[in-house]
Amino acid sequence: MELIIAKTKEEASRKAADLIACAVRKDPKIVLGLATGSTPETMYSNLAEDCKAGKVTFADVKSWNLDEYVGLEPTHDQSYRYFMNAKLFDHIDINKENTHVLNGLATDVNAECEAYEKEIKDAGGIAIQVLGIGSDGHIAFNEPGSSLVSRTRKVALTPQTIQDNARFFEKAEDVPRFALSMGIGTIMEAKRIIILAFGANKADAVAGAFEGAVSAFCPASILQMHPDVWFFCDEAAAANLKLKDYYAWHGEEVLKEELGG
Ligand code: GLP
Repeated sequence: MELIIAKTKEEASRKAADLIACAVRKDPKIVLGLATGSTPETMYSNLAEDCKAGKVTFADVKSWNLDEYVGLEPTHDQSYRYFMNAKLFDHIDINKENTHVLNGLATDVNAECEAYEKEIKDAGGIAIQVLGIGSDGHIAFNEPGSSLVSRTRKVALTPQTIQDNARFFEKAEDVPRFALSMGIGTIMEAKRIIILAFGANKADAVAGAFEGAVSAFCPASILQMHPDVWFFCDEAAAANLKLKDYYAWHGEEVLKEELGG
């Protein structure tokens, strides 16, 4: 696991965007797993800028998103399909037909989830999975207590997540109670994971995920069992990590190497 601790969210997002852009240049047909939430927004803007500047093209890239709220139309401004179009897809040269978000309106939820898993497999699997982390340690919508080998399925949001996400809706009651989400087992099959966390309200979750025991109570802690995780954060999110000074210098070194010196 490589931890890159930057002074600010902007700096960390730029570095994470560089890592993704570098991978896309190496493999223009790469399969990306993408995340929503406020965390990756700056990184997505950076990638859009790179694309506009001709530094990277997404023309042959395929993507699958982590999750979607149950019951929201894709045109609803809080649906994750809407978010992805607005924050990334509308600003890069990706073919929207190659972008996939779970259908939160599916009547046969199991069939939807099984088909999603199959599509990912048929595409050769996810090469890079982008993740954020919930303040309770969740990844995608795998809440505390989720099976560490879970697959894509319908899940119930915890009161903490409903409260955290209420800021995007008019009122907390408007936040959907259910979502479709890639499972932890699904996420762990990605060849590389890039996880981002910013701000003091993520400090406990980050410490739990990277220095705590591997436990379903902190779903992100399973990433300790993944061989290729890159974690980008700002100083506030890293504040509770005991080994943060060590991670900081080492992370910078390996990132330089990875980006070609
Ligand atoms: C949601 C998403 C997660 C995301 C999390 C954190 O619950 N399902 O994928 O990581 O929120 O959101 P934010 O980045 O806004 O803090």
